[in-house]
Amino acid sequence: MAFERCILGFGDGLSFPVTGWTGGTAFRRPLYAGRHLNVKASNKNGRFHMSAQPKNISRSSLLIGSLLLVLAAHPAHAKILNPPYLQAVSMTGVCVMVECDTTNAASVAYGPSPAYGRTATTAFYLTTSITTFVHRVWLTGLEPNSTCHYRASHGDDQSADANFQTAPPSGTPFRFAFMADFQSTSTNHDVMVSQLIETHHPRLCVYGGDMPFNGRKYDLWKKHFLDKQRLLIARVPFFGAVGNHDGWVENTKAFLQAPDSGSHTQAYYSVDYSDVHFHILNTEVSSDTNTPQYAFAQADLAACTQK
Ligand SMILES: [Fe+2]
Repeated sequence: MAFERCILGFGDGLSFPVTGWTGGTAFRRPLYAGRHLNVKASNKNGRFHMSAQPKNISRSSLLIGSLLLVLAAHPAHAKILNPPYLQAVSMTGVCVMVECDTTNAASVAYGPSPAYGRTATTAFYLTTSITTFVHRVWLTGLEPNSTCHYRASHGDDQSADANFQTAPPSGTPFRFAFMADFQSTSTNHDVMVSQLIETHHPRLCVYGGDMPFNGRKYDLWKKHFLDKQRLLIARVPFFGAVGNHDGWVENTKAFLQAPDSGSHTQAYYSVDYSDVHFHILNTEVSSDTNTPQYAFAQADLAACTQK
């Protein structure tokens, strides 16, 4: 169906930045003055666009109908936009990533059972390319090698209870999974996720990059990675590496949180987990000799004493 961009008589459609609504397209037929307005609204790269027909409807009717649609399409603020997931796990802590539609602090209740008992709030957030906000909530003071339950809140919105395992101490065997190159909506991805959850039970995942096909496109982070992985990454923390399809760009920086390490950057890092030393580099940051990444790799590997 073709729509004419004629809102408000400006001839170019109504368009403004939007942060509270990340839906793709909404179509409504609000009834005003005995006539249906065929109005289509969409979110394109963080801007709200609206178009309508018929063109010959009066400007005042169209204005009021359009404003009604804006109110209907724009939800109440303070929503959790993506199921929370886990980064930078250690023996005593983890970072809960909570993507929200506002910068208001998110909070996470956590503890050894669904009774929780402790609460942490947003330490900081990073903004995605469509102006949503990925909040970092650090859970601290956890017992090594133990189960931790958690649930996030943002305004009146609340996530489901989930649980994960903290890292075990040195000398403890554990199982981890490595995977890379998701960058599609393949159903193989779904099979892999369900088998990991139901059969293999890794305590940790390591992702070798190329999570979306194009990291600059917010919707591909959702379609190719976050939507596909949501059941796994809510309960199994992962360490992520950055590849050429991710790019070291705004969305990649927003959706990934590395542990602090001797690299002093989020781009590349290393981390110990039980007796394993994971050394994670970034193809999208220079690793030529005489670069900081090269120097980090040399020094970190030389200093490694893990088994
Ligand atoms: Fe790849």
